[in-house]
Amino acid sequence: MHVLVTYGTKMGGTAEIAKRIANTLTEEHFSVTLRSAKDIEHPEEFDAVVLGSAIYALRWRRDAIGILRQLSRANFGRSIWLFHSGPIGDEQADDPQAFPAKVERLAANLNVKGRTTFGGRLPEEATGYIARSMVKQGRAGDWRDFSQIEVWAKGIAAELGLL
Ligand SMILES: Cc1cc2nc3c(=O)[nH]c(=O)nc-3n(C[C@H](O)[C@H](O)[C@H](O)COP(=O)(O)O)c2cc1C
Repeated sequence: MHVLVTYGTKMGGTAEIAKRIANTLTEEHFSVTLRSAKDIEHPEEFDAVVLGSAIYALRWRRDAIGILRQLSRANFGRSIWLFHSGPIGDEQADDPQAFPAKVERLAANLNVKGRTTFGGRLPEEATGYIARSMVKQGRAGDWRDFSQIEVWAKGIAAELGLL
């Protein structure tokens, strides 16, 4: 059982979430490939896929969408888990975010076993006009909950163990 954990990120926060998921699955004795979505050519060759993206303006990163498109075109029938990371701020971080319509459309024919939202992170040193203005508004911080992420990954391990 060879599991792909792959992700679309801009500022690295989602990459660290994916890494924690991959580490957890490795600890649970699965063979895991952890790689950025932009570096994966054949996601359909894996036995299971965990795919995540950062959310920007309600959308997923283009490379993460690309993985979903490839899997959909390949009629990938094996198990997939989806996550996205975005909400920042004490009030919002726990709110599940709707998956973008494009993600829903591509995922419709896939065997999605689970999906979730994790809190996001906005670094003080974020670049880009909108990100800078968010930082100036005092919105920088880290709302990723790594124990929550580990629990989710352990759930995946439990389901994979039953396949
Ligand atoms: C310009 C900008 C737009 C964002 N839009 C959203 C959004 O629509 N929904 C959301 O939940 N989070 C949004 N976020 C928060 C990011 O998803 C969050 O910072 C995330 O952790 C970034 O992940 P990354 O470090 O992997 O790029 C936005 C952040 C920025 C800077």
